[in-house]
Amino acid sequence: MTTFSDIIDLLQHQLRDLAEDDSSAKLIQQLITEGQLHHKSTWAGHMTPAVDSPALLGQALAGIHNGNLLSPELYPQLVAIERQLLDWFCQLFQQPFAHFTHGSSYGNLDALWQAREQAKNSSNIVYGSQAAHYSISKACRVLGLNFQPIPTNNLGQIDVNALRTACQHIAPIAIVATAGTTSCGAIDPIQQCLAIAKEFNSWCHIDAAWGGALMLSSTHQHHLAGIEQADSVCIDPHKALGQPKPCSLLLYKQPLASSSDLDVDYLTQAPKQTIGGSYGGELFLPLWCSLIINGKQSFSDQIDQRLMQAERFACALKRHTNWWLSPSATGIVCFKPPTHINLTDLINLGLLSTAKVNGQTVYRVVFANATSQAEPLLAALKIYF
Ligand SMILES: Cc1ncc(COP(=O)(O)O)c(C=O)c1O
Repeated sequence: MTTFSDIIDLLQHQLRDLAEDDSSAKLIQQLITEGQLHHKSTWAGHMTPAVDSPALLGQALAGIHNGNLLSPELYPQLVAIERQLLDWFCQLFQQPFAHFTHGSSYGNLDALWQAREQAKNSSNIVYGSQAAHYSISKACRVLGLNFQPIPTNNLGQIDVNALRTACQHIAPIAIVATAGTTSCGAIDPIQQCLAIAKEFNSWCHIDAAWGGALMLSSTHQHHLAGIEQADSVCIDPHKALGQPKPCSLLLYKQPLASSSDLDVDYLTQAPKQTIGGSYGGELFLPLWCSLIINGKQSFSDQIDQRLMQAERFACALKRHTNWWLSPSATGIVCFKPPTHINLTDLINLGLLSTAKVNGQTVYRVVFANATSQAEPLLAALKIYF
């Protein structure tokens, strides 16, 4: 089978030979080396996985095809593959409808747009935790909604008592629960958020951009219990399933509200009721190639593998240090050593990053890759113990 290094070799030779001058050839070489960062066993800086070789082939396939699914009648094969993948995710999340998006910033915007279009009450308030991704407040600004952050508890989850009190004060149009916060990977209490949303007749959106991947693992999906009851859910295979950007989905309970005033005379089909415009196989052919070449089980194995590495990392840090430590169920481990320890060098090497958890700046290790290993990360940290 074509491996990742075969593709790298091909690129290196082809592009270097084609480049007009030496400096461009050198730049190509440097770019390829720069991107290899994500394949290191110590890569744990961000939610950016190494892309597997089938997905790379899928990217090439998408480029060769280049169809635009705003004219689906021209591309029945592409439509069939998209449908197959959407059906698979719909079944997994027990949500009847879904579409691909260019990332969860778009997914969150699409979801809150629908919440506004299909509003069950006249509120313009959206509640989510103070750890919700900033794309939620951005989406609210675009939509003329008012995002009001709710404090988090010491696990980084939304404080459900504070959420309930806020709802009693003003019922929201939507509640956003996060399944896998960007900073520390916390999963908000999904069932309680759903119950509160139901009580106040509000839309419940779950931002599972990072943590949604757990649904693919029979060992870990229990952390997302209740997710099938949400009005909408977004998930990013480009964060936690080894896919290249952009690859993201929004799943939902009700068909999208039609904006009948949108009339486009050059399109034979009605325009889609989504934020995104032109799109084609680039959103899903890499994922499809990973599935048909590696198999579904490989996704589940990858998730189990990286969560096991995250757990090993957290357990070892707990054993060897008395640093403040916050492991999560989604593969992010946050920690805070005494203030005289400065880990900037490790940040610059891509081993970790910083994040704010409940107002304090902490270090953060993100197991986005099945290839990220606890041992070499701990070895790099050991000189600071
Ligand atoms: C929880 C969460 N939601 C949404 C997003 C936005 O996703 P994207 O960068 O794919 O637009 C992120 C990005 O890190 C995230 O962590």
